[in-house]
Amino acid sequence: MTIEYSDASKIFHLQTKHTSYVFHVLENGELGQIYYGTKIHAKDNYSNLTTRELKDATVAWKIDKPDFQPDILKFEYSALGSGDFRFPAFQLTFNNGSRISEFKYASYEIKSGKRRLDGLPATFGFADDGSQTLIITLRDETVGVDLQLSYSVFPDQDVIVRSSKFINHGTERVVIDHAFSSELDLPDSNYDLIEFPGAWARERHFTRSKLKPGYQGAGSLRTASSHQANPFMMLARPDTGENSGEVFGFNLVYSGNFLDQVEVDQFDGSRVLIGINPNEFSWNLTPGETFQTPEAVQTFSNQGINALSQQLADFYQQHLVNQRYAHSTRPILVNNWEATYFNFNENKLMEIVKTAKSVGIEMFVLDDGWFGERNDDTTSLGDWFVDKSKFPNGIGHFANQVHELGMKLGVWFEPEMISKQSQLYGEHPDWMIQTPGRHQTPGRNQFVLDMSRPEVVDYLVDSISKIIDETQLDYIKWDMNRYITEMYGQKLAANQQLEMGHRYILGVYDLYERLTKAHPEVLFESCASGGGRFDLGMMYYAPQAWTSDDTDAVERMKIQHGTSYGYSQSMMGAHVSAVPNDQTGRYTELNTRARVAYFGDFGYELDLTKMTDSELSEVRKQVEFYKKYREVFQFGKFYRLESPFNGNVTSWQVVSPDRDLAIVGRFQLLNIPNSPYLRIKFKGLDPDKQYRVNGSEEIFYGDELMNAGYFVPEILTNSKKQGLRTADFSSQLFIIKAV
Ligand code: GLA
Repeated sequence: MTIEYSDASKIFHLQTKHTSYVFHVLENGELGQIYYGTKIHAKDNYSNLTTRELKDATVAWKIDKPDFQPDILKFEYSALGSGDFRFPAFQLTFNNGSRISEFKYASYEIKSGKRRLDGLPATFGFADDGSQTLIITLRDETVGVDLQLSYSVFPDQDVIVRSSKFINHGTERVVIDHAFSSELDLPDSNYDLIEFPGAWARERHFTRSKLKPGYQGAGSLRTASSHQANPFMMLARPDTGENSGEVFGFNLVYSGNFLDQVEVDQFDGSRVLIGINPNEFSWNLTPGETFQTPEAVQTFSNQGINALSQQLADFYQQHLVNQRYAHSTRPILVNNWEATYFNFNENKLMEIVKTAKSVGIEMFVLDDGWFGERNDDTTSLGDWFVDKSKFPNGIGHFANQVHELGMKLGVWFEPEMISKQSQLYGEHPDWMIQTPGRHQTPGRNQFVLDMSRPEVVDYLVDSISKIIDETQLDYIKWDMNRYITEMYGQKLAANQQLEMGHRYILGVYDLYERLTKAHPEVLFESCASGGGRFDLGMMYYAPQAWTSDDTDAVERMKIQHGTSYGYSQSMMGAHVSAVPNDQTGRYTELNTRARVAYFGDFGYELDLTKMTDSELSEVRKQVEFYKKYREVFQFGKFYRLESPFNGNVTSWQVVSPDRDLAIVGRFQLLNIPNSPYLRIKFKGLDPDKQYRVNGSEEIFYGDELMNAGYFVPEILTNSKKQGLRTADFSSQLFIIKAV
């Protein structure tokens, strides 16, 4: 049984293969948390774990229940105002202005599987995968509002997915001031908080700090999950490392403003809240309406952080990503952005396409600048029809030529945006988000369309579909290059203005839903000035994302390493670009650039026609190599062996499901002369299988390679002799094959 319920003690016990999640109905009808962590036996009674100690200077629920002190209890979905003074999971305001709610347990229901949500990206389960969903209904009789807490249990990946839903059965409007997706009240605070802050071109860097009393966490008010913060976070015991120890992981299936908050309270409890950011949000729940929060993903491992990343990667592949693409390898592409920027025409592009074809690349992605009159970033967003000065015979003609060569075609769109210099703005100036009578703040010279308006979404479905049909398109890169300012919904009432952020993102999801349904053959990649919307909401529709605008191999070590904690390799677009690198001015060797990019969805982002013959033949070999091993690079089990956040060396390993093949990439920053003796310990091999490494004659058992290690030869010391520009930033690749 995945979900057990004891009627006598009103205890719910959710079990996955290795974890238990236990809670019960409290005397006042609320739900109280008992335990989350390594699997324990199901029992009818956990009175020891629910022991209450009477504390002074703390309010109690009733005179005759002095030990029922809400500020000390652990809740499933807490409310403010009746004795729990910590940050609450939700807050409602009723018609008379009052803010006290009393949701009491009413009923529960257990269903097999896990259904998707309407209008929101969501996880899903299948009849035969053992997943189960528990829906608990709590009721506030005074106002006639139901609160449903949903828990879906995915036993194989040790994941529990949670969300909440408010249903107004009453006769009055209720305002939801905020509503998180999940809450976890942990009994102690001896944890490190691991988060992934960043900036444009420096996304998702690993940070780890000890929890401290009060509020901490990550959040965004940028109208997107953002470059600066990511909804994925972990709580790890201080002694937990990659390969051992207890760790919790949390993520949110949402792309707008979010808050992941941990509050350490006066008794060293830790309250974790995951969901839509309470700031800049409220929702009018009129009679008969429901409000569904996005889903929060929570998981636990006692086997360390790497194991947690692996169970999440498996979970996303089985239960989140579009199943048409989840298991199929992604094409090797060349993108013309860093090759040409806006300066191209059909002839120039066809030269790139032909060269790409000659080295075995499978897809050409036409980036920004093909539409309207877009020769720089000041015009034409919204005008999704081809620029005839660049493609005199139309985009369909260009697409035919690409397809005739046996290549796939991708096209860039930035659907959510509008330039003031555009036909669209001329026709619909009111479609642009703006606050009446206020200054309008440009971002990259552009403004944002009001995606909460159905006519805007309809226009985008039509205009993008036309291009898809005309080009028989294989791939779309969906960009989003600025955050929203002067947020205001012209079609919304004054008291609905704080709904706008969520309504905007629902409009984005609607557009994704309609386009992906109507054009299932198109693979979507999401992008937001690189990694500004790298989140599970996007991944549901677009199974891969442009990880960062920073294509420098050295910066990418940190970006891809940081990203790998909460996301899988097949979600990360990773391309080889030219040197000196456009973002950092750095020189790295072509082989290092490729080896870093192999650990993702591989491609090129440079002008192939400017490469020398010897460079092109190196590219041909890289493409051949990646094709041979792409399955394991994109979908193999990912191991972080050495971290760029710790020092000079980064190394990553991927292992095939049958453990017959593993590849290790080892990258160093600065070269070390006369370097010390070194062995690297591989991971995830079968201890009893015999392997060869890079075709060497010696045979190794898996246990030797994992425990004694493998000798690492000194890296290039004589760059002149090797014909290298620099011996810094060099790399090694170990290919480990079962014999
Ligand atoms: C953003 C993207 C880039 C490129 C440009 C085009 O910056 O992240 O990859 O598509 O827009 O304008």
